[in-house]
Amino acid sequence: MGRLINVSNRVPLAKTAAPGGLAVGVLAAMRARGGLWFGWNGETSGQEPGEPEITIRDSLTYATIPLPQTLYERFYSGFANGTLWPLFHYFLAGFRYDDQEYAAYEQANALFASRLLPLLAPGDLIWVHDYHLISLAEKLHAQGARQPIGFFLHVPFPHYEVLRALPTFAEILRAMLAYDLVGFQTETDRGSFLDAVRVLWGAQAVGEGGTVNTGGRTVRTGVYPIGVDVEAIGQSAAKAASSAPVQRMMQSLVGRRLIAGVDRLDYSKGLLERFQAYRQFLESFPEQIGQVTFLQIAPLGRQKVQAYAQIRDSLEQSSGRTNGRFADADWTPIRYLNRNFPHATLMGFLRAAQVCLVTALRDGMNLVAKEFIAAQDPDNPGVLVLSNRAGAACELTEALLINPYDTRGIARAIQRALTMPLAERRARHASSLANLRENDIHRWHTRFIDDLLAARARPASRRSAELPELSAFRH
Ligand code: G6P
Repeated sequence: MGRLINVSNRVPLAKTAAPGGLAVGVLAAMRARGGLWFGWNGETSGQEPGEPEITIRDSLTYATIPLPQTLYERFYSGFANGTLWPLFHYFLAGFRYDDQEYAAYEQANALFASRLLPLLAPGDLIWVHDYHLISLAEKLHAQGARQPIGFFLHVPFPHYEVLRALPTFAEILRAMLAYDLVGFQTETDRGSFLDAVRVLWGAQAVGEGGTVNTGGRTVRTGVYPIGVDVEAIGQSAAKAASSAPVQRMMQSLVGRRLIAGVDRLDYSKGLLERFQAYRQFLESFPEQIGQVTFLQIAPLGRQKVQAYAQIRDSLEQSSGRTNGRFADADWTPIRYLNRNFPHATLMGFLRAAQVCLVTALRDGMNLVAKEFIAAQDPDNPGVLVLSNRAGAACELTEALLINPYDTRGIARAIQRALTMPLAERRARHASSLANLRENDIHRWHTRFIDDLLAARARPASRRSAELPELSAFRH
């Protein structure tokens, strides 16, 4: 097979912010297959970028470009994170639409395409990641690229009734149909996508196995739940348990049990509800006051998007209220940190936790849930409290599944986790771990790339799907 070219907005080079779950998967694919990772370098500039800068780090090759300041703001803070992110996570109340921002999104995708194109060789396989770059295949085709191109959506895909709040939803769907393979985290996400295709192009457009036939071309779709490197996390967590930062944290607990949460600070993660649930837990089970410590790690990002600044304020107030009400001279109920830690240290913290809280209001997958399971000591494992609205709940059915809006339900689940007998903890953990092993990170990239190679074997027409008369859908 030719080179694997990964493309994502964020790449995990030091000068950019914390890369999130996407990076874990793409790094695993790169380590297994080599190739090139193309993306934004985390910087903005006054003018159009020139040729990409090539960086080789840990034997992996990156090609990156800066983005012009205004374009970046409209594309990244605007359409990607002010429009698509809330829409795809079902937050219509926090959703906005602006023509200029959509135009900037298209322009940024065209810019990515034009700077990537000269780096491509005929046998390459291109794998585009996530909602920032949905239009990339259309732009690459328009500029002459003929390589197979796959797309994986790391976040949820919304139901049609939510999707159509976006005035340009049909253009977004058409852009997705310019790929040879479109991958989703769960069957629900793929189902929503196919339903939307049926609405626009008719039921006959969707064939067996979820292939889509429009405009004389065929697009495959598939479900590829992203996983983790189970063995590597287990080893790194066990090793980190004796590291200085984890030891210091453990000593500071003075024997109290640890409840942990690790999330990028985002309104979709259900942190406010989680803080409220923890307060209710302390109210409902007063015997736990002073017996547990809740460590919430929430590094900041996307601070230029208003909703992120707002949630940050609300969380500070909420944690402050709980600590003000329950803290003692020698006990702080919530330790709330807006900073990041090296991945190995985080795994050490997760291993030390008796309970992990993942209460996302909506999440494509949530790799913290999987990392927690992989980081545990199988002989004495902790318990995962997991939102039934995170993709991970499809596989981790042995977690304590909760509705993230049901704060009393979460409070009861915390108590149940803390009092669960060892035999039950072991059985639940073993079953979850078996699921993770079966669907690990290697299976994720191998299956996707194999399917993309199979899609390449077919003669491909580069004609785009024609949009139906859109006025019918704009009311
Ligand atoms: C989520 C998205 C990723 C993104 C990450 C960090 O995990 O699915 O695509 O890389 O958040 O987001 P940021 O806005 O910092 O690039």
